Amino acid sequence: MSHSDLADSAFLRAARGEPVQHTPVWFMRQAGRSLPEYLKVREGVTMLDSCMQPDLVTEITLQPVRRYGVDAAIFFSDIVLPLKAIGVDLDIVAGVGPVVANPVRTLADVEAIPDLTPEHVPYITQAVQQLVGELGGTPLIGFAGAPFTVASYLVEGGPSKEHAKTKALMFGAPEVWDALMRKIAGISAAYLHVQVAAGASAVQLFDSWAGAVTRADYERSVLPYSTSVLGAIGETGVPRIHFGVGTGEILDLMGQAGAEVVGVDWRVPLAEGVRRVGGRCVQGNLDPTLVFAPTEVMLERADQVLEAGKAAPGHIFNLGHGVIPSTDPDQLARLTDHVHQVSAR
Ligand code: CP3
Repeated sequence: MSHSDLADSAFLRAARGEPVQHTPVWFMRQAGRSLPEYLKVREGVTMLDSCMQPDLVTEITLQPVRRYGVDAAIFFSDIVLPLKAIGVDLDIVAGVGPVVANPVRTLADVEAIPDLTPEHVPYITQAVQQLVGELGGTPLIGFAGAPFTVASYLVEGGPSKEHAKTKALMFGAPEVWDALMRKIAGISAAYLHVQVAAGASAVQLFDSWAGAVTRADYERSVLPYSTSVLGAIGETGVPRIHFGVGTGEILDLMGQAGAEVVGVDWRVPLAEGVRRVGGRCVQGNLDPTLVFAPTEVMLERADQVLEAGKAAPGHIFNLGHGVIPSTDPDQLARLTDHVHQVSAR
């Protein structure tokens, strides 16, 4: 292992728009419930507790790297972990998602949320350092939730389809909204800084639910805060990836938030995604349900994604959203091998 192996890895080269020997591949949610070895080590440990145990985080993060030989590891954690770390009363309920005990609705609620400092998350620093040592030439992607997506959990109090309370706050209480979005932007930026300072080679900002707002509202009430997070981490020099679901109508704006790489949702044909983000690298975007199709169908569709990716300055192969828990890991193994083989140059 040497630093130059890492810097020259296919993942980091593609993220910088440099030529690669094969198209790099990793999968959002590659660690987790689709893996029997994950279910085994998580037995009797709650999700949030597992995120605070560096040995467990290291093991879980490494599992998909060992199994698939993917080109990057993603740090095992959750977008709400930093909130938990600063004292927000929340839990991740199995099969449900993050649940917040006292939803945030007023300026006083926002002001009661502390800023995040590295002292809040010593176990994150330790886990990242440990992982980077074990990963050698394989890059580690750190991540955080973008302000809109994290705000949704804080305001709704849990997962939501319509994000109605969140958007009502955005529409009706712009000052509270601004304070909340600034607060989260600061927390997410600080959380990413901790991961990069400890050795993460790249970061991904997840704005999973940004597709829930119109283009005009995105531009006015969401984009400035995501731009602030990405800008804050820009000074570290690590490649930044920005991803959201159902974001076809705002993909160009998401690119303008400042990331080097834009994650394209599975709904947008990748050739069109490449066009929309004009000049930036792309990540994606095989429909995650294709793993349930016959292998040859899945691989044929993967070929189409690879072909479309050639039009971008850099392409990181991924699914167009996270691995579905009932996914057969053998399909992801075949997919990884196939992407490596057919893209080898
Ligand atoms: O990709 C990886 O392997 C890294 C791990 C990771 C988790 N959460 C672990 C997790 C990542 C990158 C996340 C990010 C995250 N968390 C996002 C953005 C990514 C996306 O999918 O859009 C969001 C929206 C969350 C919030 C959240 N946390 C949800 C929606 C859920 C799933 C609820 C459920 O149980 O179906 C969680 C819980 C969670 N986070 C699990 C895992 C492995 C499942 C809990 C468990 O295994 O007990």
